[in-house]
Amino acid sequence: MTIIRNHTRRVNSVVENVLQLSRPGSAQPQLIGLHDWLGKFMDEFVHSGTCNPEQVSLSVNPADLDIYMDPSQLHQVVWNLCQNAVHHTGTEAMPVRIQLLGGRQENSRAPYLDVIDNGAEIDPAMTDQIFEPFFTTKSSGTGLGLYIAREICESNQARLAYQTDTAAGNCFRITFPDTVEQAVSALA
Ligand SMILES: Nc1ncnc2c1ncn2[C@@H]1O[C@H](COP(=O)(O)OP(=O)(O)OP(=O)(O)O)[C@@H](O)[C@H]1O
Ligand SMILES: [Mg+2]
Repeated sequence: MTIIRNHTRRVNSVVENVLQLSRPGSAQPQLIGLHDWLGKFMDEFVHSGTCNPEQVSLSVNPADLDIYMDPSQLHQVVWNLCQNAVHHTGTEAMPVRIQLLGGRQENSRAPYLDVIDNGAEIDPAMTDQIFEPFFTTKSSGTGLGLYIAREICESNQARLAYQTDTAAGNCFRITFPDTVEQAVSALA
């Protein structure tokens, strides 16, 4: 039963990914208080059984940082990134740790969210390919997770990139539009 259930889940996730590709919903950006939103996201992620509460931490500075994005699409992007952290890093000896860090970029002041893990760094020769559709190093992966996450960000006038200048682990940064005018400009 466990084997059947696991394979059914996998088939379902492939179908959902492909459907998402063929009919991406139009973005409805909204003002989101990042700290509270991430708190709820973290609870949901932990309750899904993907990891334990002590494996995920959250810090947003300034604490009242607001961003503009479609909430359900932001949910899918952050979920994909956190699932990647769990699936592609972490061993029994060294369980994955995920940090969700929100802030403003020093130069542009644009708000961002970093999803950081403590896993082995992605091979620099691979960091461009990981966003390509169907690129995967996992036997059971579709290789669509990062591609879809990046497409969703773009339709919300946000950017998703792998950060190369981090001290350790892997960091994926979502940079959000700064103003509601920028956020809705794609919809005009
Ligand atoms: N946090 C991470 N740590 C290490 N490698 C990663 C991480 N995130 C992504 N990768 C690499 O990027 C590849 C592409 O990721 P992507 O999410 O697009 O597909 P996937 O996770 O392999 O499959 P799926 O998302 O369908 O389950 C992964 O196979 C993995 O090699
Ligand atoms: Mg993935």
